[in-house]
Amino acid sequence: MNFDEIYERRNTNSLKWDLFKERIRAKYDVEDGSDILPMWVADMDFAVPEVVTEAIKERLNHPIFGYSYITDECKTAIQQWYKRRHNWHIDKSSLLFHSGVVPAIATIIETFTEPGDKVCTSTPVYPYFFNIPKLQNREAVEVELIQSENIYDYDFDKLEEAFKQGVKAYILCSPHNPGGVVWSKEDLEKLVQLCIKYDVLLISDEIHQDIVFEGHKHIPTLTVKDADKAKIITVTAPTKTFNLAGLHAAIIVCPDENLRRKIIQTKSAHGLDDWNILAAAGVQAVYEKGDEWLDAMIQYVSKNIDYLEKELNKLEGIRVLRPQASYLVWIDYRETGISEKEMMDRLLTKGKLAIEPGTKYSDAGRGFLRINLACPLSTVKEGVERFKKALL
Ligand SMILES: Cc1ncc(COP(=O)(O)O)c(C=O)c1O
Repeated sequence: MNFDEIYERRNTNSLKWDLFKERIRAKYDVEDGSDILPMWVADMDFAVPEVVTEAIKERLNHPIFGYSYITDECKTAIQQWYKRRHNWHIDKSSLLFHSGVVPAIATIIETFTEPGDKVCTSTPVYPYFFNIPKLQNREAVEVELIQSENIYDYDFDKLEEAFKQGVKAYILCSPHNPGGVVWSKEDLEKLVQLCIKYDVLLISDEIHQDIVFEGHKHIPTLTVKDADKAKIITVTAPTKTFNLAGLHAAIIVCPDENLRRKIIQTKSAHGLDDWNILAAAGVQAVYEKGDEWLDAMIQYVSKNIDYLEKELNKLEGIRVLRPQASYLVWIDYRETGISEKEMMDRLLTKGKLAIEPGTKYSDAGRGFLRINLACPLSTVKEGVERFKKALL
């Protein structure tokens, strides 16, 4: 575990380091882009825990990669992880598997809503939460979160108003991306009660659950009061936690047998399989032996955030909103008076830094930027210098 080590990721078919140049060129006035430092999409520049590479290498020793299934040992590893880290008992029969959290959400929306139905989420939020419903011809209903001391808070009155209009499903981001909020038990309970009252399917995306900083505790939605009376489906993964996005592995936890049967039916209708053989080997390994790596990684990223906070908060009009969870940091630049277009131009052409514009997370994100700090401290320092240069 050496989180300071720099790995050259260019020319590794990396979305973050290679493909981003094309994307930026298509959208902004950037000619080449190879001198731009990417601190955007949510994957890490850290090597995965050694247990992952060891488990995959071991599987590679057998030269046949035929059809496979997820073993009971692997399910036990998943079950024990959630018990150990989140005090959440998951019945193995509740588990379903998918290639990613985003496709899992798409499958769930497809299964339980019809074209024209209202699918709600609270913004700013991970863009697929409103893009998937729109792409499936559902109506995406956005209810804005309130900016607060806690980074963001729910406006439950507004949410209830939206639910009254006939919302079919609500997508929750817990912990929250991009704000990094760890929702309280009270908030989750209120949300569950509203979903029960208006018969709304609650899709709880908990992919950022494992990277939680000292003083905060993630609460799985399915463990709160009356969760068994609501229609809740949790979607999660070890891929953010351990930097395995390229392996493609997500977990659906659906205790309700009736709902589960319907998801299986949609998966079958599309011929969707569970994880591939290498993903299963890697995931089982981290869930059995990844604790130490994760604890050390959280400590490391927390120091990266300290650095960013100290340096950027010195800049006039810039405020770093310290996340309670995740390595993604939300930066408020509203007081600079700079427009998003100008900010992005400055960052990309003057600073040579690629971070995310706030409106990617809906209009409620205007005036904010999201930076990814899952990288060596030296990269954070370089990013800070580039950020400062962009603002000069
Ligand atoms: C809230 C949230 N859900 C899902 C994903 C992506 O999940 P997957 O790669 O498993 O589709 C991300 C990635 O950043 C995310 O932030």
